[in-house]
Formats: sequence, C-alpha cells, structure tokens
Amino acid sequence: MTASNTQFMNTQVLISPLPEGVAPKKSHFRTVAITESKPELEEGSIFVKNAVFSLDPYILHDFSKGNKESSVTGFGIGKIIDSKNPAFPIGSTFFGPIRWESYSHLTKDQGLSESVNLDAGLDKNIPLSVYNGVLGLSGFTVWDSLKRRGDLKKGETIYISSAAGTLGQLAGQLAKRQGLRVIGSAGSDEKVAYLKSELGFDAAFNYKTQDRRQALTELAPQGLDIYYDLVFDDTVEIVLDLLNPHGRIISIGALAMHQGQEPVAPKNLIHILMKQLRYEGYMVYEYYDQWEAFWKEMTPLVKNGEIKFAETVIEGELDVIAETYDRFLQGGYKGKVSVKIADV
Ligand SMILES: NC(=O)c1ccc[n+]([C@@H]2O[C@H](COP(=O)([O-])OP(=O)(O)OC[C@H]3O[C@@H](n4cnc5c(N)ncnc54)[C@H](OP(=O)(O)O)[C@@H]3O)[C@@H](O)[C@H]2O)c1
Repeated sequence: MTASNTQFMNTQVLISPLPEGVAPKKSHFRTVAITESKPELEEGSIFVKNAVFSLDPYILHDFSKGNKESSVTGFGIGKIIDSKNPAFPIGSTFFGPIRWESYSHLTKDQGLSESVNLDAGLDKNIPLSVYNGVLGLSGFTVWDSLKRRGDLKKGETIYISSAAGTLGQLAGQLAKRQGLRVIGSAGSDEKVAYLKSELGFDAAFNYKTQDRRQALTELAPQGLDIYYDLVFDDTVEIVLDLLNPHGRIISIGALAMHQGQEPVAPKNLIHILMKQLRYEGYMVYEYYDQWEAFWKEMTPLVKNGEIKFAETVIEGELDVIAETYDRFLQGGYKGKVSVKIADV
C-alpha cells in the first residue's frame, strides 16, 4: 500500500462466541476480506502491516457488545507504515498485540504499552520469527523472571512444567548454565526425549502418562528447590510437599486455565510457613526497561547455538491460522509457533 492509496483490502480472522473457559477450535474461526480506508491517525497511534503472528495459549476477543463475531488479538510482528507515535517511527519493526488481520490500526490504548520497537535488538541474520520466541517476549520473560525471582544457586534442583514450550525450553537451558539440576515435564514421549537429548535437561517425564508425584519423587531424590510454574494446576500441591526448606515457586503462566481447567487452591499451603518457602508471581510488563540488556546477553548465545530452541513457522495466507492454532493448543508442535503472512 502507498500513502496515496486510501482504500485497501484487509483480510481479517473472526471468532464466534465461546462458552467461558472453552478453548477455541478451528470451526470457531472465519476469515473475511474487507475493503477499508486508510485511517487518519490520532496522536499516539500507529498503522502496521502485519507479517509474523505469534501463536500463544491465550487470545483476546470482545463480545461485550453482544456481537455474534469478534476480531481476534494476539501478539505478532509487523512493519510500521504510518505513525503518530515517536516510539514507533515509520519503517520500524513492531512487536505487540495485533489483531489477526493484514493491517492493524492501533491506538495508544490498544496495548502499545505492552509493545516493543524491535529495531533496538534486531539482528538481520536471525529470522524474524525468533523475535516471537526466544529473542522476543517469551525469552525476555524467562531471562528476567529467573534473575528477579529465581535466586538460582549452583547444585539446586529446578522443576519446569510445560518444559518443551516456548518459555520452558529456555528456562531449562538458562538454569542448566547456572549449574542447576534441571527436571522438565511435557505432554509426549517425543518432547521428553527432546528435552533430554537436545536441550540437556538432566531428567524429564511425560505428565500425561506418568504419575507426577511418583516421577518427581524418583527424579529428585534430594527434593526440589525451585518450581518454575507455567501451568497453574494441581501440580503445585505435589511440589509444595517436595520442596526443600527455602524453596521457591515462581508463578509465570496458567496454561491449564487457558485450556478451560478450573483454578485450584492447594490444601498444603502451610508448607510456605513451615519450610519458609517463597511463592511469587511475575509479570513481564513491569520490566520493559531491560529489553536491550536482554538482547545484548542473549543474541550471541542464540546465534552461536549455545542456546537451542525449537520453532515452527507456517507460511501462507491468514486462513491457515485457525487450523494451526487448533493443533498448537493440542500440543501438536514443539517450541514457538508462528504464522508468517508477509516479509517486513
Ligand atoms: N508472566 C508473564 O509475564 C508471562 C509472559 C509470557 C508468557 N506467560 C505465560 O507463560 C505460559 C507459557 O507460555 P508459552 O508461550 O511457553 O506456552 P507454550 O508452552 O508454548 O504453550 C503450549 C504448550 O503448553 C502445553 N500445555 C497446554 N496445556 C497444558 C496443561 N494443562 N498442562 C501442561 N502443559 C500444557 C502443551 O505442551 P504439552 O504437549 O507439553 O502439553 C502446549 O504445546 C503461558 O501461560 C503464558 O501466558 C507469562
């Protein structure tokens, strides 16, 4: 699109209403092509050509006005093609919440405080999709949360749930680099093998086919020191029993709730008192001043292969996103999943 073109075709993915807590399926999505006019930008807003969508366990939609369908918002990367926001000049590379559509007009109230101008860290020799994963918000979350909340000490044992996912695979490798014994769980034998043979986890188990308490007791005979919780399910009750004195639970994600599971309250919280445990949450958005430090440390490690990662990039038109998302939610991919519809 050029500045003189005022009309353009915007392909958009719509979602039909879902019962509360139910994960979407392919049949909930529909792709439409709409002719739109190029927006007149108000102060603080931007206009983005979307390129690489990040598939994440949560998506946003809005049925508040009783609409039969809603647009879908997730994270992704695009090129700024018009801007009235000095943090995101024209031509810069944008990462943030974007609707699943070819072009997005984003006002300053639409998640721009959760957005990043990637140009400060972009390495042209690294595929853009990697900035949806290990060098993006996921990687930054792991790098920063382990530093702030982990208090990692050589010789300690850390357990990571959803360890073959985007955050989990990096958490294990960073903990290993600091001399910890690393245990992970994942939902298939193939993922379990990947954790041990490719990522260097000391031990891993399949949480779908093995008893979690028995597996953790056997794999951590010295007890656990840290639980990096990406799931927020009843695993925490098992972990509270197995944590050593002064152990930590870092609460990062709620994958089970994204899948429609009810939140659970552990009955053995008394361990927090008796074993002097720390149980802390972490939200990445408070720490955005650390992006450049993150890229400075992690980019060389990713480039030279010291940090490994799995990713799947599905290329095509926007209509591939529904099927890809359905399979992603069922654990059908390892690591970060992106859908690429354009180059930037
Ligand atoms: N606190 C923050 O600032 C922050 C920032 C970024 C992300 N997060 C959160 O971190 C969590 C992980 O994000 P991610 O991008 O790394 O996700 P992810 O692991 O890539 O998510 C997909 C994987 O989750 C696993 N999974 C799904 N449901 C599960 C369940 N009930 N129990 C165990 N595993 C399940 C599946 O793998 P299996 O085959 O192994 O089941 C699936 O492949 C998410 O909840 C996300 O919202 C938090």
